[in-house]
Amino acid sequence: MLKVDFGGCSSFVKDAEYQEYLDKALSALDVLENESGAGNDFLGWKHLPTQTPETLIADCEAIRDSWKSKGVDLVVVIGIGGSYLGAKCAVEALSHSFAKQLAAKKDAPEVVFAGNNLSEEYIAELIDLMAERNVAAVVISKSGTTTEPAVAFRLIKQHIEARYGAKEAAERIVAVTDAHKGALKSLSTQEGYRTFVIEDNVGGRFSVLTPVGILPIVLAGFDMRAMLKGAAEMERLTAERSRTNPAVEYAAMRNLLYGKGKKIEILVSYNPKLQYLGEWWKQLFGESEGKDGKGIFPASVNFTTDLHSMGQYIQDGERILMETVVSVEKSNRSVTISDDPQNLDGLNFLTGKHVEECNAMAELGTKLAHIDGGVPQLSVSIEKIDEYNLGALFYFFEKSCGVSAYILGVNPFNQPGVEAYKKNMFALLGKPGYEAQAKALHERLGK
Ligand code: PA5
Repeated sequence: MLKVDFGGCSSFVKDAEYQEYLDKALSALDVLENESGAGNDFLGWKHLPTQTPETLIADCEAIRDSWKSKGVDLVVVIGIGGSYLGAKCAVEALSHSFAKQLAAKKDAPEVVFAGNNLSEEYIAELIDLMAERNVAAVVISKSGTTTEPAVAFRLIKQHIEARYGAKEAAERIVAVTDAHKGALKSLSTQEGYRTFVIEDNVGGRFSVLTPVGILPIVLAGFDMRAMLKGAAEMERLTAERSRTNPAVEYAAMRNLLYGKGKKIEILVSYNPKLQYLGEWWKQLFGESEGKDGKGIFPASVNFTTDLHSMGQYIQDGERILMETVVSVEKSNRSVTISDDPQNLDGLNFLTGKHVEECNAMAELGTKLAHIDGGVPQLSVSIEKIDEYNLGALFYFFEKSCGVSAYILGVNPFNQPGVEAYKKNMFALLGKPGYEAQAKALHERLGK
């Protein structure tokens, strides 16, 4: 099970200070558990692991099986932000690193993502790929009105309809959206798409354990029941009013360090499969805490890769950093380093060692070096990368985020700051209703 360890912070904080922050974290936990804090109408995520009905997973599996019977080998999942990052994280973490290149026939379709950018090249190249494959699509948008997925979906829908006809297209497109409102809901009703609902009380970045994550993860061939089981274990553990509740401990320590000037928290992993855990985590904490002029800035790196790019700054740059290392205790694969009689590379001292042992020593050595360099180390460890542990990580970070934001004194569940760019973009693109803003922006830009 997931464990936290803050031994790597002991030279930066006094125990009395930590105890004080644990008290603050426990009060914040009370607010979250009593549902009495800001944004308390968005707490539907808290009991998803234990309250997700079996029928939801069975419905996702039915879609997986019906697409399999049609020979679908490419599923395009369209969404952005919270409607993208959780599924992307799970698919990256759980897939074979070279799944696309492996010759062996796969049981599950390849899952690719779209609608998470506005790049013309990306969408054109995706359509090139779709043209060669047997395609289905999942379009995910809670609001049903987000520009990036809506633009991508318009193009992908047209491609699928042109290839298979409107009736068959409706069999190959599933929508995940609000129960009643939004353009995607109206479109789905009109076209007869199967739909899954994102409940009103779950915000985008807390939605990985709703159909937003469940459907793509099931379609990609992974065990959603095991993921919910890992999350359920965390739901139980992190509800306890205890000084050893890992979410309380993590929220307390990161806020204590923030108060000491550690304004940036870097999520570190030593396995490239966890790169998108960093992306998901950045959205979760960045959008939840970065408001009212406050909040730890979330960043992420993958070591040892980024030790050769970001290592210098982390060791020696401005001392405003803390690191949270997601450690994986056991590798799922086994490769030992072989002997070389010539030993020209001088590496025979490693003969017989597992590659992961080198990784573990790199992790330990880096930890000590970074502590010496003034970077506190928070550790979150899991046994191995699998569905169960990923579910535990998702829930652990969600709960920690809620507690942490309440310690900070912000509403974790709104995101007023993301509207500014959208309004400017709509005005510059000539959306009806934005004429005055367009005029002001053009004057400002001198055209
Ligand atoms: O966390 C959030 O609320 C956002 O990141 C949303 O998930 C993102 O903007 C996508 O929104 P929607 O699902 O409404 O298209």
